Amino acid sequence: MERILSGIKPTGKLTLGNYIGALKHFKDFQEQGEVYIFIADLHALTLPIDPSELRENSKDIACFYLASGLDPKKTTIFLQSDVSMHAELNAILQNYLYIGELKRMTQFKDKCSKMNDSAIGLGIFAYPSLMASDILLYDATKVPVGEDQVQHIELTRDLVNRFNHRYGEILTLPKAEVTKVGKRIMSLTDPTKKMSKSDPKGDIFLKDEESVIRKKIMSAKTDSGSEIYFDQENKPGISNLLTIYSAMKGIDLSLAVEHFKNYRYGDFKKEVADAVLEELLPFQKRYLEIKESGMYLEVLKAGAEKARTTAQVVLKRVKDAVGLLS
Ligand code: AMP
Ligand code: TRP
Repeated sequence: MERILSGIKPTGKLTLGNYIGALKHFKDFQEQGEVYIFIADLHALTLPIDPSELRENSKDIACFYLASGLDPKKTTIFLQSDVSMHAELNAILQNYLYIGELKRMTQFKDKCSKMNDSAIGLGIFAYPSLMASDILLYDATKVPVGEDQVQHIELTRDLVNRFNHRYGEILTLPKAEVTKVGKRIMSLTDPTKKMSKSDPKGDIFLKDEESVIRKKIMSAKTDSGSEIYFDQENKPGISNLLTIYSAMKGIDLSLAVEHFKNYRYGDFKKEVADAVLEELLPFQKRYLEIKESGMYLEVLKAGAEKARTTAQVVLKRVKDAVGLLS
């Protein structure tokens, strides 16, 4: 049976990019196998973050998970820091990853290229080691993520092969599962940049009000010319909006392109905004109900217990393999 695992880090306000690239699809995996979805709060510490913000973001993600249709009876939902085995496995596995390969990670280069070495914490450099531990601790076979995370999963696979070559078939080889439509949603103000929790104008945040969402989409940067077609290179703004539309409607890009063939930019944007709101407004309503009821706290508690049960088995297997007496 497939073991499916994914997580989101509570570093900022979640965006439509997170929704389309990750969150929206998690529930579909519930029918395919055993699902583990967690809040990657230890990962959030890899760059400076205010403690109260971290707490609020973590609660929000728990509520977003539930609002997106994850059923705690089918899916194990938990906080990474509640399951200490993540840190323990990391302490072992970090020895099988090399500085050279960690230095090549795009996320590390993006985040730290402009920083001085004396300001870069060890955690952001060692990020892929903890992420590999998250995945391997549950024998995950499938890891749904946006495109930006594929490199980390490839590195996890290298680690598995290296480790198993030395100790036998101990770790399970995972595979990245990238969303077909919307694997990389771009900023609305600069469609050559990824939408990524840091640009209040270019990002649509999942908690934005209806009027704000509409306004952001209506003022999204478009491209020269007046025709609507998909061309990532020459028409990045229009292509991004077409991608958002087809992801929200759950249709093929080609169908969206066909639909808007004779539209003007203004009417096109209005329909994109309608499609986004049609899905996000009920989602926001569910989120609020869950947040107010406080029921997510129970879900996290029960989830951590279940997660620990699975994690213990794998950790023991790894400890035995490398020669730790326990
Ligand atoms: P992060 O915000 O980096 O914790 O990402 C959580 C999940 O959302 C990961 O699977 C990312 O690949 C995905 N994701 C983040 N931003 C985007 C985006 N702009 N487009 C598509 N997927 C995204
Ligand atoms: N690194 C992921 C991100 O930034 C979050 C994450 C941490 C994750 N551990 C994971 C995703 C394990 C999938 C599996 O989006």
